[in-house]
Amino acid sequence: MAEGILITKHTKKDTYEELIPQLAALTQGEKNTIANAANVAAALKQVFDFFWVGFYFVEGSELVLGPFQGPIACTRISFGKGVCGFAWEKKETILVPNVELFPGHIACSGLSKSEIVVPKLDLQTGEVKYVLDVDSDQLDGFDEIDKIYLEKIVSFV
Ligand code: SME
Repeated sequence: MAEGILITKHTKKDTYEELIPQLAALTQGEKNTIANAANVAAALKQVFDFFWVGFYFVEGSELVLGPFQGPIACTRISFGKGVCGFAWEKKETILVPNVELFPGHIACSGLSKSEIVVPKLDLQTGEVKYVLDVDSDQLDGFDEIDKIYLEKIVSFV
């Protein structure tokens, strides 16, 4: 296993391009979802210094908190609730430039200002298995570049 994630690039796109093969190498030999989710969250937190990065896993009618990096967070989110539950319901990435303008946003921390939630679908059933939630303490913290690359990265767990 590599000793750490090494990033030499400066633009966000190049950083993601450099990060992705390292995440692939880090996770490809490991089948345990929790272990891979933990390393993916840690790598994203280290490289981009996002305010909060973590996973919520579908359990029945709720999402349950999984591995994350950042302040403590809500442990359970119902289907359709908050940005995470909405991404689960819609089965698509939800990008929220200003969380105060998103009806029903669940504020785990008042410092979170923008958010992106990327669901991962089971390829066989088409159902959501888990979501990757990333929060920024800046307004407009995410854009289409984050969407494109986080949609690739969510599959590494
Ligand atoms: N804001 C999320 C809840 C999870 S925390 O941000 C970690 C939501 O509205 O679903």
